[in-house]
Formats: sequence, C-alpha cells, structure tokens
Amino acid sequence: MLKVNIIKAKDPAEAGKLAADIFQEVMTNNPNCVLGLATGSTPLPLYRELIAREKAGVLNFSTVRSANLDEYKGLAPDHPQSYRYFMQDNLFDHISIDPANTIVPDGLATDAEAMCAEYEKKIEAMGGVDIQLLGIGHDGHIGFNEPCDHFPVATHEVELEEITRQANKRFFDSIDDVPTAAYTMGIGTVMAARKVLLMATGKDKAEIVYKSFFGPVTPQVPASILQFHSDVTVIVDEAAASLLPL
Ligand code: F6R
Repeated sequence: MLKVNIIKAKDPAEAGKLAADIFQEVMTNNPNCVLGLATGSTPLPLYRELIAREKAGVLNFSTVRSANLDEYKGLAPDHPQSYRYFMQDNLFDHISIDPANTIVPDGLATDAEAMCAEYEKKIEAMGGVDIQLLGIGHDGHIGFNEPCDHFPVATHEVELEEITRQANKRFFDSIDDVPTAAYTMGIGTVMAARKVLLMATGKDKAEIVYKSFFGPVTPQVPASILQFHSDVTVIVDEAAASLLPL
C-alpha cells in the first residue's frame, strides 16, 4: 500500500491553491515555522497564491523563516538568473518575511565545502525545516540532486547534467551561459524535513512522477527516496497525473 499522499488538481493554478492550503496549515500551527523553498516554474502558482493570501490578511509571513534548496555556482545574489534573485522577485519582495530570516546557498562562496557545511548548520540552528517544497526534474532530480549511484546526504556542490542545463536554458541567453555547477541541499537534508510537498505539473512530468512514486527506490531516480519519508504529499495536475494508476 502506497503511503505517499497524491492529490490531483485540475491544472497548475489549482495545484498552487492546494499547495497553499498545506502551507497555510503549517504556518497557522507554527507562526515561526521554517519553509523549505524551491525555484523553477512549478511553484510559481503557489507563490502567487501565498502573496494573495497575505494581502487578503489570511497569512502572515513576518515571523516565518525560510531555507532554499539550491543555488547556481558562480552567480551573485543580484544576478537575474540566480535563485536568490528568483526568490526575491517571485516571493520575498511581495510578502512580509524578514530578508534576514531567509537563507539561500551562497553562489559566490570561495570555500564551497565550508559554505555547504555552514548551510547545514544554519538549517539546524533554525530548528530544521517544517515543510520542504520540491519540484521535480525530468530525470527525477530534487533540488539539484541528479541521478547517481548513491543518495548524497548533506548540502554539497554538484556538476549539472546536460538534460538539466538544457531544461534550464530557457531562462538564459544561451546554453553557454547556464552554469555547469550548483550547490544543493542533499537528499538527507530533504528527508530530514518534517513534511515534504512535491509539486509536478505538465505532461512532460508524467513519466518521471510515475517512476518516482510507483517504481523502485533508487538513486538513479532521486525523487523515489521520498517513498521512504513518513509525511509526503504530491500535488499533480491532470497532465502530470496522466500515467498514474489512480
Ligand atoms: C529548483 C529545483 C529543481 C526544480 C526542478 C523542476 O529549486 O531545485 O529541482 O524543482 O528542476 O523545475 P521546474 O519547476 O522549472 O520544472
């Protein structure tokens, strides 16, 4: 019996609303909670909904803290394609969260190993992540944990797979501008979150969603490890759910 809670939404907008309901519950239960956040196209409807709910007085981000999954190596926080910039632009600048309470790995770190170790310590000092939001790559990556022969434990540097650079080139002028490396929370960091919420929308995600939650748990499909987490919700729109035996 599959433990993963799979919720089907009509479309990405409804997926955003359903995800916002889960965030709202976590934030209401704990106004000082730590949100683990993701970038990419998939969370955008959720972020729009969260902004709208705070404007409507339903949510309050002023006491919330956040930790992001990943960042490109070599990009400054004010680089328009950096994940710090993405978070400011799509969420933080529009809500009452204190910027000092938001952490993203430092893309410009001179000592990568020390920065990654420090990032883990910062998450620990926050008391751990209450809800970790995830998107999913076409190869099953979560954060920038790409398919490999083991599950990386902690925050670390990764070389990006060609498929991932190609998928992300839409945000850059050319493929040559897409960084070749990134920093990401490890699989262990993600699995330590008290609650995990993975969102997947679009037909192009249908196959990997099926493999991740109905196939074997293997580091060749990093998201498949989530089958072993005790509190995972997957929100899929109809297109991404099209191959699921639901
Ligand atoms: C982003 C991240 C990535 C994305 C994934 C899907 O912080 O960690 O794992 O979630 O690449 O990206 P989209 O949502 O653009 O399809």
